[in-house]
Amino acid sequence: MFETLEPRPNDAIIEIMQKCKADTREHKIDLGVGVYKDDTGETVILKSVKMAEEMWCREETTKTYVGTTGNQNYCDDMLSLILGADHPVITEGRVGASQTAGGSGALRLGAELLKVVAPDATVWASTPTWANHIPLISSAGLKMGSYPYYNRETLGVDFEEMLDYLDQNAKRGDIVLLHGCCHNPTGADLSSAQWDRLAPFMLERGLFPYVDLAYFGLGRGKAEDSYGLLKLIEILPEVLLAGSCSKNFALYRERTGFIAAITQTSEKADIAKSQFGAIQRKIISMPPDHGAAIVTRILRDESLRKVWEGELDDMRGRMRDLRLLLSEAFNVQGGEAMSRAVKDQNGMFSTLPLSPQQAERLRSEHAVYMMNSGRMNIAGANADNIPRLAEAILAVL
Ligand code: LMR
Repeated sequence: MFETLEPRPNDAIIEIMQKCKADTREHKIDLGVGVYKDDTGETVILKSVKMAEEMWCREETTKTYVGTTGNQNYCDDMLSLILGADHPVITEGRVGASQTAGGSGALRLGAELLKVVAPDATVWASTPTWANHIPLISSAGLKMGSYPYYNRETLGVDFEEMLDYLDQNAKRGDIVLLHGCCHNPTGADLSSAQWDRLAPFMLERGLFPYVDLAYFGLGRGKAEDSYGLLKLIEILPEVLLAGSCSKNFALYRERTGFIAAITQTSEKADIAKSQFGAIQRKIISMPPDHGAAIVTRILRDESLRKVWEGELDDMRGRMRDLRLLLSEAFNVQGGEAMSRAVKDQNGMFSTLPLSPQQAERLRSEHAVYMMNSGRMNIAGANADNIPRLAEAILAVL
């Protein structure tokens, strides 16, 4: 049976993660995979999570199944956190949601739902986009296309080109995949003014928004990070939202995410939820519970919630501080464009104008690991190694 089976290469992110792990040089700098690291280079379990887990361990009485749409309290809590508990789509019951196996599970479940309602639609993704967006969404059988987004010379968003391209190429009923905040891999987000233009543009052209909000809370702050999503919900009748607690609760391996369909009526929201359940049943049956139980515990307990909010602020603040340090180091060493970009960009990632060969030289000559595309995870640096990092990048450019 397996005689004809050929090995498949790893996805680029996993490949760099493994290469860095195997490098024994002590001074290596790991800017590869998108996980938050503290000053010592560790990805620690949040204190709020540890405390919630201890409580949950004492309280949990059963491991029986939760159901195909998972923990609904978790979905409600995350939606209230992101949209505000008194948002009309929540009070009017116009959100149908399911817990999922991480943000990737959310993206796939959302794509499967889109395949049911719009089998001939094209899903348009930014150039570039997260390496796994295209495999995850196209595996549901949907066609995909790319719109211009990041300009590797200006290191900013080509917003007019994005609108022109969608205007010329996307047809009514097509889907536009948008990064709600902390664009992965570039860190270049739309400004509030650009979201204000994008939402009516999409309404006029009959385009449907599919928002990936995997990095909520890690950009500029909770209100800023949900601005684009809220604008889309305000202007457009329907939105699909994929969320994750991998980064903001540091629950990576617990695979904790959700998918939410914001619909025009509460009846349609119930139907969307039943579809999520039926689709999830045939792919993985039911999502894992532990991460969702922990998030709910944290968000429903005033003191735990405060601890988590502080931890989220710390993670976001540390990445902002590192951005400022790197920006300063680039500036001092003559890298003005990169200096401006890393300061203006948001979240974990920036994409620097490196070729794959230059990224390889960074690895072999300087023990600095970033993606061949030039994507770096700023959280992997620290105040001590930032000057060396800037020097190494400028040396290979
Ligand atoms: C990343 O972009 O590095 C993260 O989202 C991890 C992953 O699964 O790719």
